[in-house]
Order: sequence, then C-alpha cells, then structure tokens
Amino acid sequence: MENPGTSATGGWWLYAIPLFTKNEVRGYFLHSTDHISEWGQWPLYIALLIAAVCAAMVSWFRPGGCAWVGRHKKGVAIPGPKGWPIIGSLMDMSVGLAHRRLECLARTYGAKKLMAFSLGSTPTVITSDPEVARDLLSSPHFADRPLKQSAQQLMFGRAMGFAPNGDYWRLLRRISSTHLFAPRRIAAHEIGRQADCTTMLSDIRDESNINGGAVKLRRHLQKAALNNIMGSVFGLRSVDAETEKNLREMVDEGFELLGAFNWADHLPWLRVLDPLRIHSRCARLVPRVRSFVKDIIEEHRQRDNTADSDFVDVLLSLQGEDKLHDDDMIAVLWEMIFRGTDTTALLTEWTMAELLLNPQVQGKLQAELDAVVGSNRSLREDDIEKLPYLQAVVKESLRMHPPGPLLSWARLCTEDWHMANGMCVPAGTTAMVNMWSITHDPEIWERPHQFRPERFLPSEGGQHVDVRGNDLRLAPFGAGRRVCPGKALGLRTVQLWVAKLVHHFTWLPSPNHPVDLTEILKLSCQMATSLTAVPLCRIPAPSTEQPPTSPFP
Ligand code: HEM
Repeated sequence: MENPGTSATGGWWLYAIPLFTKNEVRGYFLHSTDHISEWGQWPLYIALLIAAVCAAMVSWFRPGGCAWVGRHKKGVAIPGPKGWPIIGSLMDMSVGLAHRRLECLARTYGAKKLMAFSLGSTPTVITSDPEVARDLLSSPHFADRPLKQSAQQLMFGRAMGFAPNGDYWRLLRRISSTHLFAPRRIAAHEIGRQADCTTMLSDIRDESNINGGAVKLRRHLQKAALNNIMGSVFGLRSVDAETEKNLREMVDEGFELLGAFNWADHLPWLRVLDPLRIHSRCARLVPRVRSFVKDIIEEHRQRDNTADSDFVDVLLSLQGEDKLHDDDMIAVLWEMIFRGTDTTALLTEWTMAELLLNPQVQGKLQAELDAVVGSNRSLREDDIEKLPYLQAVVKESLRMHPPGPLLSWARLCTEDWHMANGMCVPAGTTAMVNMWSITHDPEIWERPHQFRPERFLPSEGGQHVDVRGNDLRLAPFGAGRRVCPGKALGLRTVQLWVAKLVHHFTWLPSPNHPVDLTEILKLSCQMATSLTAVPLCRIPAPSTEQPPTSPFP
C-alpha cells in the first residue's frame, strides 16, 4: 500500500528538496571532496533548482495545490485552495482551529460537498455534506486510516484505531464489542461508575468548601474518566498515589504527542530534523507505557480470575489464531485508555458550561430529574431511558461541541472512489469529514449557534436524531465500519455524570471566572480555559462509604 504521507504521482518534486537541504544546507550534490568539480557543476545545480521551482509553481496553480499534481482524474475536478508552494494548506491545519478554517475555505471555494487541498505532499479531501459523509465513511474504500508518525511510534499501529482493515482489526472489533462494549458488559460496570461518580461529587463538595465556593471541574472529570476506563478495561484495583501520578503523566504526554499536528507527517524530509521533538519524546514515553501495561498484564496472568473477568483477562484467554502477542495487547489496552478518557471528560465539561450559560435549561433538567428520580435517592442508569430531556441536552452538547470536530482520526482512500457527480478521489488520498461544519450548518439546523435541546424532542416540535452513526447530520462518533466502538459506553458515562452533577447541585457561574467557550483543538476539541463554577448543594450526595470499587482512592 502506498505510504499515506507521500504521493506517488503528485508532488514528486518535493523529493528534490532534501538534495539541497541535507548535510547542513550544503546538499548531497554539494557533498563532494573534489572542490574543482563542485564548482564546475554549479550550472547543473542551478538548472535543477530552476526546474524544481518551475514545477512547484505549475503544481501550485492546480485546484487543491501541490500534492494534487497528476492526481485529478478525468471528470469533474474537485475544487479547493492551492495553498502555498511545498507546504500547501499546512498552515490552515496547524494554526488556530482547523475545523473552522476548513469550513471557511469550503465556503469560499463552493466546495461543501468535497474540497481538495494539500497537506505538504499528502493529497487530502474533506466533506461538509452529510450525504457525501455517509457514502465516504461507509465505503470499503475508506476503511483504513493514515498512520501518523506519533501514532506509529506509540504502538497504535497494532491498536484498533489504526490497524489496517483486515483480519487483525476485525478480531479486535469482535472481541471488544463482545467483551467490553456489549450492553450487558456496560451494565455490569455500573457499580464502578456510580462509585467513581460518588467520589467525584464528594471531592467537588470538599473543594467548594475549601475554596469558598468555586470549583475547577476538569480535574474531577478527568479523574473520574480515568477511574472509569481503568475499572472497565483493567479490572478494579487500587493503586498507590505514585502509580496514579505516573499514569497521569503518561496519559498527558501521550495526548500531547498524538494531538500535535506534526508537519513531518506530510513533509517526510522534515523527519530528520524532528522539529516538534515528536520522535524523541515518543521514544522516551514508549518504554514507560510498555512497562506499566505489561505489569498489569503480568498481574492478571498470576491471579485466579474465574469469577469476575475483565478485558485484560479476555485478551489473555484468547487461543489459537486469535492469541495476541504481548506487544499487541499493550497497544490495544493503551489505546482504550486514550480514547476513553479525554472524550467523556471534555464532553461533560462542555455540557456543564452550556448549562451555566443557559440556566433555564439547567432548571428544566433539574425538574425532569426531580420528577423521575425524586430527592430521596440517587439516580440509577436505568432511569436514563425515562429522562428524554437529559438525553436531548447531551445530544445538543455533542452537536455544538463534537469532541472530534474532524472526527479525530482521518480515513485513507485505498482504491479510486468515483462519486455520482463525476468527481473521483484517487487512491492514497487522506479523507476527512468536517462534522463541526455539518452540525453548525444553518441549512440543516435552525439557529445552529443556539444551545436548544428542545430541537431533539418531538413532543416540543423537535425531531428524534440518532447520534450513533445512522444520521449523518449528527454523527459525532463517526459512521460505517470504523464507527466508534465505545459510543454506548461514552454516552452512558456522560449522561450519568451530567445527571448526577445537576441533580445534586445547582451550578452558578463563578464571578471571577466567567464561562469562556473558546476552543482549543488537540487530540479532541476542548475548552481553552477550564471551567470554574460554583456548586450549591440541592440534594446531598450519597455517602462515599461504598465498596472500594474505584482504582484511585
Ligand atoms: C463521548 C465519547 C466519544 C466520542 C465523541 C468518540 C468519537 C470517536 C470518533 C469520531 C471516532 C472515529 C470514527 C470514524 O472514523 O468513523 C472514534 C473511534 C474510536 N473510538 Fe471513540 N469516542 C468516544 C468514546 C470512546 C470510548 C469511551 C472508547 C473506548 C473506551 C472509544 C474508543 C474508540 C476506538 C478504539 C476507536 C477506533 C475504532 C476503529 O478505528 O475501528 N471511544 N471515536
């Protein structure tokens, strides 16, 4: 398969650049010991340089820019910005908020259905249209993902999210959907989620008492998210403070590395320079991760676990062709920690921010909770089915703030893909969906910038929308065969947390820290300024004196 970071037919001239840049700017051509012949060859160098510059200029005028030279197939050309010579539209992806910038470009070029652009030598397309998004995400031609340098180094090449479409990937999907994400498995972990939530509520109350009211919510959500995943994936255990700190450091560093937009993924000759120090930082992180996860696997190997097996036990029990190598297991388990923690915590933070800015929505949600749950007991997960407004609030939050505005990880086109309108996406193209643009499209959503959960309530003139990948107007979990396998767990967790936070407290904005909805796009899109709010107790949180199910005290 073609290397996704490079192009076979387009942007060939980019490969001339290292000839002039390697060896401390003197270039391979200049690396001669024969000084006389060096000078004698100058006209050749200059001619080559002029040829490269001319080729760059010619390619630059193509729709989509430098990486699209020779790639537009017969038929209708895909419109798009030419960007800059050599780098194409790399600046649009790496500076500011890529989803907003790409939406602007698609509008400018009349390319909502499909826009071509260049990320260095990587030909790329993006759609902001739900119909095209559906066709693209569910097409077998887009069932692979381009592998970033950081993901490859951090072992994700063998994890589910980046494994190529094939037997190994299908095995991982099958095992995880049966043993981790099946409804009965999710239900079995409710006790753990409830305990994590209880700990979170009491930590929030304590912090509020100590700080005279205001609480920084993110820290509490991240801790609960990590507990939740550690519980569901690794089994319930208690770890000491040092291990917890170690794990947090590794997760934070991994987020930074995977979330960083690395120019070297698209300009391969930059890899030797390692401008963002991605390579060296990954090389330091991997042995730490390996040793941490390996210890957990070894612990599972030693113990007698006939009764309550967790996901690690399931992976260890695989036999024959399904049996996983230890390194593969480490990659699979590590990925779950990554995907499972940031998305749920930051979606809850966005939801709480909207509830602070829209007190009437918060009040209506509390009224629904009081009517269904009452004030004498705490919410159970089976209550959620009877709480349509809660579900609508979380949907509206997913619409306004999809955690992956560009669906997090792109897809790779493995065979020429012909569209009904005559456009063709050639094999080797990276493909993205601008979900943020779709969920903010005024032709699809009335007053899209307003937080209005009622739009999802048929009883109040709204419409039912399935967010699990069947309706591409709102598909924050992606769609098709690579749709997020953790969607049910993610939704359940966020619904539980939001319900509990609002049932037990009334949330007010902090006078010193107004709610700031500025976004920052890393691995996911999160609030640039973490949310600070004042919780007023309305129903005392249940006692934390529960069975010790939370891995972190
Ligand atoms: C609010 C929560 C979440 C959101 C918004 C979310 C979103 C996404 C998106 C957009 C994708 C890419 C889908 C595509 O290419 O079509 C994805 C993939 C994935 N997600 Fe999630 N996710 C969430 C929670 C979780 C959780 C809790 C887990 C696991 C514990 C998880 C594990 C994964 C994995 C393994 C993939 C890669 C699947 C593959 O390539 O086959 N996600 N997620």
